[in-house]
Amino acid sequence: MSEIVYVNGKYVAKEDAVISVFDRGFLMSDAVYEVASVINGKLLDNGAHLARLDRSLGELSIKWPMPKDELVSHMEELVKRNDLSEGLVYLQVTRGVAPRDFSLPDVEPTLVMFTMVKSILASPAADKGIRVITTPDIRWQRRDIKTTSLLAASMARQEALNAGADDAWLVEDGHITEGSSNNAFIVTTDGVLVSPSLARGMLHGITRKAVLGLAEQEGLKIEERTFTPDEAYQAAEAFSTSASSVVMPVVQIDDHIMSNGAPGPIANKLRALYLKMAVEQGGVADNQ
Ligand code: PDD
Repeated sequence: MSEIVYVNGKYVAKEDAVISVFDRGFLMSDAVYEVASVINGKLLDNGAHLARLDRSLGELSIKWPMPKDELVSHMEELVKRNDLSEGLVYLQVTRGVAPRDFSLPDVEPTLVMFTMVKSILASPAADKGIRVITTPDIRWQRRDIKTTSLLAASMARQEALNAGADDAWLVEDGHITEGSSNNAFIVTTDGVLVSPSLARGMLHGITRKAVLGLAEQEGLKIEERTFTPDEAYQAAEAFSTSASSVVMPVVQIDDHIMSNGAPGPIANKLRALYLKMAVEQGGVADNQ
């Protein structure tokens, strides 16, 4: 069975899914997106993803393509039609189709959604931990908006792969901002969990927020503040968070081996707690 893609009100086979070449998402990256994970056929923390979508659309004055509850129904329908048990739903809203121009036209938005099969619960990468390099953060300044302008992030990821690593942590003014597609965390040798504060113009990660909540419940000391690559090298542990990889332990940053080259205990614990909550609650929070 071919994958089913949602395009502007229609469910079509992926080979038949088309948008206009004049779509501003294609021409200008005038588009925002969300990626939500699916476990046991249920969307995870979807209410939080849609709240962030609302913010992204609002910041760019892009219209909602339909009322939120209808969008939720279509996301669930897409999961069903693709028989997706575990993986991701990708959702993208563009400003719409208009003659190419640098002003922002008032047109009807484009909505595209598809699913991806991905093992979220079992992850060989998370069992082993990943290696990251640090590289300058050359992205634009509105990183708090989840836009599809992902070229700088893709270049950073490719640089990491070319260097034999798995991902890149991005550095601005001497401090780590985030990973190429995830939020960055370290655990200091005193056991303090540190993640850059959202004040720095970065994505408000849904997984980051949930993991900070779990860490708080566990009684961990938390500091939301910037840290330098040097501080990261000296840390007891490091990990990143995202909807697609949940909590991903980092075992090497540049030439520095972290936590003896194996995932650290706090990263492992937070990953296990997050997945337990996700499975037990069938989606973390309500899906509205
Ligand atoms: N990326 N920071 C950046 C730059 C991201 O692209 C992402 C997510 C995150 C983590 O956010 P969340 O926990 O809400 O997934 C942080 C998604 C998964 C992607 O682009 O595929």
